[in-house]
Amino acid sequence: MNDVPGRVGVIGGGRMGAGIAHAFVLAGAGVVVVERDDEAAASASARLLESVRQSVERGTTDIGYDALAAAIETATDAAALAGCHLVVEAVPEDRELKLAALARAERVLGSDAALATNTSSISIDDLASGLDRPERFLGLHFFNPVPTSQLVEVVTGAATDPALVDDARGWITALGKTPIVVRDSPGFASSRLGVALGLEAIRMLEEGVASAADIDAAMQLGYRHPLGPLRTTDLVGLDVRLGIAEELHRRLGERFAPPELLRRLVADGHLGRKTGRGFYEWSEQR
Ligand SMILES: NC(=O)c1ccc[n+]([C@@H]2O[C@H](COP(=O)([O-])OP(=O)(O)OC[C@H]3O[C@@H](n4cnc5c(N)ncnc54)[C@H](O)[C@@H]3O)[C@@H](O)[C@H]2O)c1
Repeated sequence: MNDVPGRVGVIGGGRMGAGIAHAFVLAGAGVVVVERDDEAAASASARLLESVRQSVERGTTDIGYDALAAAIETATDAAALAGCHLVVEAVPEDRELKLAALARAERVLGSDAALATNTSSISIDDLASGLDRPERFLGLHFFNPVPTSQLVEVVTGAATDPALVDDARGWITALGKTPIVVRDSPGFASSRLGVALGLEAIRMLEEGVASAADIDAAMQLGYRHPLGPLRTTDLVGLDVRLGIAEELHRRLGERFAPPELLRRLVADGHLGRKTGRGFYEWSEQR
């Protein structure tokens, strides 16, 4: 039987940070969320308490609302992370911001504590370069939305202690999610494969091989893909996918070169479901 750490810190209580904090609280941990200022801390607290209330109402936890709320703290100073067994950084995807947040956390943590980042694209080894204890550091790449996403990528840096990887697998399993272990590499496993499929589907559409709906149906019915690569791209956001493709193109070469059709749709503001149009029309379903 796996357990989560007793006290977990989360740096950045935005979309992902609040979701990660929510997952650990429901699994029985005490959680402290550190935000950049009082206003952001108040919004993070409200976001987190609302999602906890919904979980209690849906009956997805046996713990009562008051006990869950009492297990949540918010703060604006990294000093509040002292005593945490695990800290997960979830500030915006900016290298300098993450390096600073991780270094501040490491200074107040005990030498046995684990430090993790939820980065989607920054190298774990690069972020570890600013730390004194890189062996206690790894990636925990949660997916959005955290409560309903099954997968967490446990991303190992060159210096990550294998015992920490084992612990992390146990923690993710205790959250009711499935860990996969991935060596630090561009796009980890999920973005690299997901984007490769998405880009090829866009090239096929561009070349007139089949319609968007038929390309998606090929993957849905032929390979049990839940949505199809083009519909998935519409949901993720064409701009988000283009950004990842550009990064993978830079680091892994020509096979990730973004197709012209993707660039054109993004330039025209057709970003997928969030703007009402991508490869499909979404006006009815927004
Ligand atoms: N949104 C997604 O789909 C998704 C999925 C997987 C991973 N990620 C990664 O998760 C991380 C967070 O993304 P998000 O979508 O939650 O962003 P977000 O903008 O919703 O949340 C970021 C939070 O960090 C806070 N913050 C900013 N600077 C801070 C600081 N110095 N100290 C403490 N808090 C600070 C902000 O106030 C905000 O609440 C990014 O690295 C992103 O790449 C995002």
